[in-house]
Amino acid sequence: MKEDLNRIVREAMEAVSNAVTSDDIEKLRVRYSGKKGEITALLKSLKDLPPDMRPEAGEAINKARAQIEGNIQEAQARIKEKSLELKLAAETIDVTLPGQEIPMGHSHPNTIALRELERIFIGMGYEVVEGPEVEKDYYNFEALNIPDGHPAKDEQDTFYINGDILLRTQTSSAQVHEMEKGRLPIRMISPGRVFRSDAVDATHSPSFHQVEGLVIDKGVTFSDLKGTLGIMARELFGDDTEVRFRPHHFPFTEPSAEMDVSCFKCGGKGCSFCKGEGWIEILGCGMVHPHVFEMNGIDPEEYTGFAFGVGLERIALLKYGIDDMRLMYENDIRFLSQF
Ligand code: DAH
Repeated sequence: MKEDLNRIVREAMEAVSNAVTSDDIEKLRVRYSGKKGEITALLKSLKDLPPDMRPEAGEAINKARAQIEGNIQEAQARIKEKSLELKLAAETIDVTLPGQEIPMGHSHPNTIALRELERIFIGMGYEVVEGPEVEKDYYNFEALNIPDGHPAKDEQDTFYINGDILLRTQTSSAQVHEMEKGRLPIRMISPGRVFRSDAVDATHSPSFHQVEGLVIDKGVTFSDLKGTLGIMARELFGDDTEVRFRPHHFPFTEPSAEMDVSCFKCGGKGCSFCKGEGWIEILGCGMVHPHVFEMNGIDPEEYTGFAFGVGLERIALLKYGIDDMRLMYENDIRFLSQF
């Protein structure tokens, strides 16, 4: 029995030191100290020994068992540590590798142009206000001197919610909302989306943007209009830009004009950009019509004012030399990131 025990311990030690995986170790544990293990079997066989030999033999077996089990535990710990090391080595992260680039969005040319206009007018003491896109006929037409049957209503055909409610065709409706507030003087611009029942092509869209301007105070003259819009043009298109006003008609201003800027590509000589004209039309403007004042409870004898409306896309297209308006609505990042 003593020899058996020594052999078992020797074999066990060797097997444990050769074990590579946790599985190997577990198998050894079962083999030696499991229920049917070799040591367990020796312990069971104690009863076959003469009683006086049992204590000594028992002590020897228990010692051997403790030795083997201690060895197994050590090996188990060693293997666990080793496998953790291997795992960590395999999962090493190189923190010095460049990160994955997240593509950035880009401001839309309309947004860039609007920020520029806001900067210019806020710098001259204007407020930026917004009006609703869904409007009553009254704000979009009636209060702007465009009664039912007026030809201007046909020119600005839009989308009707019902007979009285529509998608606004012009930001000029915001003028009415401002005047209604009853606070004078007014010095505001109002940017926003407008709608027309137009088919899409390179220069038309059923939805586009305008920026409206309105100034009302005592003693405002056409000179103020010219001076203000001249500053705007030079800020937008460069210091050498000249402006000219052509008489025009808008129902809510009198007199009314369209403003052209000298072509900033050729300096006014005439080129393909300005179609040989030397001038480029950019907005409509005029002195607020006395009847518009009266409809909005402002005394035209006491107050005068000027208004203007500019197409935001038009400014962006001109400023950035974009030749097709449809590009503005596709939100293709390859297009947007050029500006
Ligand atoms: N609302 C006009 C349009 O959409 C543009 C315009 C012209 C606005 C003259 C004005 C203005 O404020 O005075 O065609």
